[in-house]
Amino acid sequence: MAVVVARGKKVGLAVLSREHLDKFVKWVNDPEVTVYLNIQKVFTLEDELEWYEQVRKSGRDRVFAIVELESKRVIGVIGLHRISYYNRNAELGIFIGEKELWGQGYGEEAVKLMLDYAFNVLNLHMVYLRVKDFNRRAISCYRKVGFREAGRIRDMALQPDGYHDVILMDILEEEFNSRYESFYKRIQEKAAQSSAEAP
Ligand SMILES: CC(C)(COP(=O)(O)OP(=O)(O)OC[C@H]1O[C@@H](n2cnc3c(N)ncnc32)[C@H](O)[C@@H]1OP(=O)(O)O)[C@@H](O)C(=O)NCCC(=O)NCCS
Repeated sequence: MAVVVARGKKVGLAVLSREHLDKFVKWVNDPEVTVYLNIQKVFTLEDELEWYEQVRKSGRDRVFAIVELESKRVIGVIGLHRISYYNRNAELGIFIGEKELWGQGYGEEAVKLMLDYAFNVLNLHMVYLRVKDFNRRAISCYRKVGFREAGRIRDMALQPDGYHDVILMDILEEEFNSRYESFYKRIQEKAAQSSAEAP
């Protein structure tokens, strides 16, 4: 079961739980997924449990399961990492493990929900990410949402065909909030309205 905490049209963000980890083991050992990530080792269920406990206790990570709302199945994971409450920024990471769902707008929605949480719940100012230069699907997903290229680190990723650049992308809170309606602000407005109407 997944406890959904933020809803888009097709996907929601859900509380990450141990019961999702079996799926994660499948995904993080799939070379067609990991080619886009910074993962070189083989992961066991124990590794995933360790990661889960570390993330659960950490004040610098907020990680959610991505749930397809219609089927209620967990299809991937998204999170904010290296959160700095002083500088008000964090690094975004995402993958959709169910490959047949790539390229259908699920990533775009999940990233928007995560950014809404980052800017309107955690009060962050800027979110950045790193993406390998050949990951065209991810780059167009991030551009669609509003991320801009901030720079490029040359030869940062060594792939089977040689070195690749890693592109840095960023988005500011005002760029996000001027473009999208916030799920959390809507709830706030509703709560304020109902308390104003109360006798
Ligand atoms: C990256 C990821 C989260 C994006 O989610 P998604 O649901 O596939 O992305 P979206 O469908 O919202 O957007 C992808 C866009 O890229 C386009 N696209 C798909 N394949 C493409 C390709 N080979 N080249 C260029 N663009 C491509 C899609 O058409 C879509 O754009 P459109 O909506 O304008 O048509 C998902 O693909 C994924 O998990 N990939 C594997 C792991 C990964 O790369 N993680 C990110 C590491 S930085």
